[in-house]
Amino acid sequence: MNPGQLRFTEPGPSPVPLLADRFRAALSAAFGRKYGGVDPLIRPSQHADLQANVAMALAKDLDQRDPREQKRDPREVAQEIVDRLYVEDVVSEVRISGPGFINMTLSDEWIVAQLKRISADERLAVRAAALPQRVVVEFSSPNVAKVMHVGHLRTTIVGDAIARILEFLGHDVIRDNHIGDWGTPFGMLIEYLLDFEGGTGAGLDAFVSDTGAFYKAAHARFESDEEFAGRARRRLVALQAGDEATLRYWRRLVDVSMRSYNALYERLGVKLTDDDVKGESFYNEILPQVVDELEANRLAVPSDGALCVFLPEFRGRDGGPKPVIVRKSDGGYNYTTTDLATILYRVDELHANRIIYVVGDEQTEHFELLFAIAQRANFLFSGAVLEHAKIGLVTDPRTGSKLKSRSGEAVKLSELLDGATERATAALIESGRGEMFDEATRAAIIDAVAVGAVRFADLLVARDSKYPFDLDRMIAFTGKSAGFVQYAGVRMKSVLRKGGLTPESAVAPILIGAKEERDLALHLLDFGITLEQAGAAAEPHQLAGYLYELARFFTAFYEACPVLKDGIDEETRASRMALCAVTLRTLVTGLDLLGVPAPDRM
Ligand code: ARG
Repeated sequence: MNPGQLRFTEPGPSPVPLLADRFRAALSAAFGRKYGGVDPLIRPSQHADLQANVAMALAKDLDQRDPREQKRDPREVAQEIVDRLYVEDVVSEVRISGPGFINMTLSDEWIVAQLKRISADERLAVRAAALPQRVVVEFSSPNVAKVMHVGHLRTTIVGDAIARILEFLGHDVIRDNHIGDWGTPFGMLIEYLLDFEGGTGAGLDAFVSDTGAFYKAAHARFESDEEFAGRARRRLVALQAGDEATLRYWRRLVDVSMRSYNALYERLGVKLTDDDVKGESFYNEILPQVVDELEANRLAVPSDGALCVFLPEFRGRDGGPKPVIVRKSDGGYNYTTTDLATILYRVDELHANRIIYVVGDEQTEHFELLFAIAQRANFLFSGAVLEHAKIGLVTDPRTGSKLKSRSGEAVKLSELLDGATERATAALIESGRGEMFDEATRAAIIDAVAVGAVRFADLLVARDSKYPFDLDRMIAFTGKSAGFVQYAGVRMKSVLRKGGLTPESAVAPILIGAKEERDLALHLLDFGITLEQAGAAAEPHQLAGYLYELARFFTAFYEACPVLKDGIDEETRASRMALCAVTLRTLVTGLDLLGVPAPDRM
């Protein structure tokens, strides 16, 4: 099944899908059944709420199929559609304009009725998928032997949001942290570890506090010291043979790394625990079977001592089919072999319908080859869908290239977060609001702002585009920042608090007299569809963008429509409180799906 085409139980409160249905009925009635599947091209309009742009394209299409002396006038085509269009219950005005746009103004009664549905529903009328899928979301996946870098931070944050969104939509989500915990470097790392007091204490400390330096030192020793290199090679053999003592040292390296990852996940509010870890080592034992299977169905063939898969649609530099090695000439397996085993496990054992790999885009070719092999080997016979949710490079705002520390190493993630906290503290003091809170509240606010800033900045840009890691811009309370959105939430909470109400108790008929009220209301109707689209495309930035707009519409409403001021009549006040409440619930729910905290005060 195509994950983009989830079917749902009932129409949601968003106008576009509902009107699209009505248009398809009209198109089919006017021009025959085969036009019933045409996209009516409904878009936001400058002259009304929405416009359908279908008539222009349709006129051309009709002319081509059935040429007449006089070409069809798109305005007449539009009129023929409108004549058969039933939208009276949803739209208060339909008008054909320009070359054949069909402009529509939604009826205030309909908007209010949808808003009532949303506020009466615990899930804000967000529909659960009618066909829930089992979705494996693989994300974070740092390498134990290497430094966890800012790219991993991004895949962690984006993956966490994807998992949360799909879960909210009713899917059965399996989080999978595919850590790199196996492979050649471990022989060398274990030997180097053993050179510290027999492999505990100081050695582990040195490893986890600066994995990069530890790796470098071990590697330098490996290159320069024959005796050490020999030990490292023997150690690797022992590890692969499952030697007890060696496995114990290996476990220590993995455990101490996991502890530092977990601390980071916790600090960022990422829902990943030890239970979600299935690293490369987990698949080690089934690698021979996987390769045997490929060999048995003649997909993998010997080549220069190695075992390779040749895919005709992928060409190597010499123009011939590109070989993908699945067993090296020394008998060892590689990254691709492990990934093939991982697919088998996820499809056969976990019964996954959809597998999302939240991984940097520099691995695009690896995944293209991998998916093609899996397809060819019939690993996907159940119809499981594999997707590489590409993550773009995190760059240095000053240089535009990959973010590195001054010494050229990967930037330490804890230092990045410390930097965010520092700036959030400074921003709070600068705003003069710092003194308003006691110590504990202040610390909580700073934390919410810092974590929110880092996460939101990561989520706001399309996940596959490059993005400059610019702490100063992230922490700002204005512009497209978490602070702006969080602050809108603080205002909503404060309005309700001052009015003696809660988001749950502030229920009243909502009037949409002012333009700002109507704009906000209309945006609220699209929360569910935004989530559906974000989930289908594995694109949390759609939700982040929606929430930023929600904060903007709310801010405009807040500035134009007084709630608590003297002289506001009771009905209007209750209505505005209720609008505030449903906006707050939407904002808080949405931010939670992005893992961005919504503080009560700031
Ligand atoms: N550990 C890898 C890295 O840091 C990412 C793992 C990607 N996932 C996979 N199934 N290959 O580059």
